[in-house]
Amino acid sequence: MPDTALLPDIVLRPAPGPGRVVVVGLGYVGRPLALEAAASGFEVTGFDLDLAAVEAAAAAWRDAPPAPGAGALCATADSRCLPPAEIWLVCVPTPLDAAGRPDLAAVAAALETCRAHIPRGGLACLVSTCQPGATNGLCRRVLERDGWQVGRDVFLAVSPERENPGDAALGPRRIPRLLGAPDAASLARARAFWERVADRVVPVSSPEVAECAKLLENTYRLVNVALMDELHRGFAALGVPTREVVAAAATKPFGFSPFWPGLGAGGHCIPVDPAYLRMEAKRAGATFPLVDAALAANQARPARVLTAMAQAFGGSLVGRRILVAGVTYKPDVADLRGAAPVALLQGLLALGAQAAWWDPLLPAEPQELAGLPRAADPSGRGWADPEAIVLGAPHRALDLGGLAALAPIVFDPFGLVPADAEGRVRVV
Ligand SMILES: NC(=O)c1ccc[n+]([C@@H]2O[C@H](COP(=O)([O-])OP(=O)(O)OC[C@H]3O[C@@H](n4cnc5c(N)ncnc54)[C@H](O)[C@@H]3O)[C@@H](O)[C@H]2O)c1
Repeated sequence: MPDTALLPDIVLRPAPGPGRVVVVGLGYVGRPLALEAAASGFEVTGFDLDLAAVEAAAAAWRDAPPAPGAGALCATADSRCLPPAEIWLVCVPTPLDAAGRPDLAAVAAALETCRAHIPRGGLACLVSTCQPGATNGLCRRVLERDGWQVGRDVFLAVSPERENPGDAALGPRRIPRLLGAPDAASLARARAFWERVADRVVPVSSPEVAECAKLLENTYRLVNVALMDELHRGFAALGVPTREVVAAAATKPFGFSPFWPGLGAGGHCIPVDPAYLRMEAKRAGATFPLVDAALAANQARPARVLTAMAQAFGGSLVGRRILVAGVTYKPDVADLRGAAPVALLQGLLALGAQAAWWDPLLPAEPQELAGLPRAADPSGRGWADPEAIVLGAPHRALDLGGLAALAPIVFDPFGLVPADAEGRVRVV
């Protein structure tokens, strides 16, 4: 544990009295939530094991414009500094382990932290994406240890996060909050809190409904992303522009939601969350062959793009100088977790290409890309003149119209690069 004396700027004394909130986990989800709760008048303490996350949250609050009625936010990496707050939000990661199984270790640890500090009458709310039954199972077990009863001595709810990183217009206040609780008293307390933080709260009949709704949302996205990528290959083979097809279909005012071609869904959620649903469904004897096929298709998408690229080079990528432009998991977000462009880059290197990455959103040497060659700019300067560029993530900061001038071939899995007169752009 760090010595809090070293953190004078970021460890503040939480104000006493009601309206105190602790946000456990200050990452993509916890930090904006902590900021919104503080802006809504709560005295918020952010807690994270990672000092960089603590500093980022404290700095974001310092830099936020002062608002009338705002509360306060402090952040710490030292659990000894945590106040006995009335409200606890669990916003820690729920990844898969090396064998592809749900890993609930961070949620279990965060609940232990909460249990050690939450006062009688406090509310714990699970925000992390978990399997159906996590609230009534894992969370309830920890809170009820030592004789407390949920709904009487302590209160429990789940409000799974639905944020869309990179979409500044849709912060925590704007996205409707699903809310489930095991009992009426817990639901009422959780509702009173969330209605101060979010414009719309959607109570549902049980924690399991809220948990399953979140998993449905991301499973729906996964299946449709995989479907779109499959159809895109067919449309491309037919010489029909996929994006125009989707835009045309999207004029239908009912029964159709557009999905666009890409390099496959990555990140912390879409390829991960269905495994949480599948784990519990399997216990209950249900199987999801369609979801399994979508997961496999999504994982195979970078390899399919590699095959199309190899064909363009006469069957082999050995020795080809290829630049991957944009390597994060989605446009305009500097997050490398589960990033398909990184899988593509690694695939290129494994096939003998002289591949490198370039991404205007990332520092020169992100830890996650250690050992992978980097180009200083999209022209390949500081690395080698590329024979081809493949678009990995179409960030706004990328000049898509200028890519075709930088290499003899531009591979575009998104159908976004404008065609040029020389026919350099290949949709893959
Ligand atoms: N990132 C998204 O777009 C998104 C969207 C919706 C839902 N979610 C879900 O929200 C949850 C959090 O995701 P995230 O993207 O914010 O993760 P993240 O990795 O960005 O942040 C999680 C933070 O929790 C901290 N942490 C881990 N264990 C801890 C512990 N025991 N105590 C205190 N801090 C701890 C980590 O250091 C990290 O800073 C996950 O369940 C995820 O599936 C994420």
